[in-house]
Amino acid sequence: MTQFRNMNKQHLTRWEPTRSLEFYTEGFWRMQLRFAIRDFRNGESVCLTILNRSESQVIGVCNYTNIVRGTFQSCHLGYALDVSHEGQGLMCEALESANRYIFSELKLHRIMANYIPDNVRSAGLLRRLGFIEEGRASSYLKINGRWEDHILTSLINPKDI
Ligand SMILES: CC(C)(COP(=O)(O)OP(=O)(O)OC[C@H]1O[C@@H](n2cnc3c(N)ncnc32)[C@H](O)[C@@H]1OP(=O)(O)O)[C@@H](O)C(=O)NCCC(=O)NCCS
Repeated sequence: MTQFRNMNKQHLTRWEPTRSLEFYTEGFWRMQLRFAIRDFRNGESVCLTILNRSESQVIGVCNYTNIVRGTFQSCHLGYALDVSHEGQGLMCEALESANRYIFSELKLHRIMANYIPDNVRSAGLLRRLGFIEEGRASSYLKINGRWEDHILTSLINPKDI
């Protein structure tokens, strides 16, 4: 994770919150992975990594967070792919199977994913996966130091659970 984050610092800056210097250290990621396991066990989030074929390198992440049960049964999805692996359909393939897991195993009803209007790659990915555009939220998330509008999309569980 430390290597993935350091190698993609520049690539991801435009689309992510401003990161602290600590974010790029091994100590930070050791702690973060412990939190991820705890939150998975508590049913609060599912943080997944995509590995290369030889499983020696993290090449992407898919995070299903803010899992809310009760009448909502929903979560948010965020993702990032290593710059040298873009344009090969890898994130699409990973999210197809991860979304299936979220719907069939966790039995959530809705996955929400939002993107900055000029994030063309993210828009294309969500469209391919069947996410439906639901609106535009102004000044929605503070990305790279600026409050950015976002296009709101979601995918509904095809099985009416
Ligand atoms: C958003 C992001 C994950 C998309 O990655 P991606 O590789 O474009 O996404 P996909 O897995 O859907 O791949 C689609 C590309 O692979 C190509 N492709 C090749 N084989 C494919 C296949 N079997 N299936 C689908 N696409 C395939 C498509 O033609 C497309 O390429 P193109 O856009 O050059 O035409 C990536 O750009 C990224 O990490 N961006 C920075 C972080 C970010 O924006 N995060 C999201 C914030 S909302």
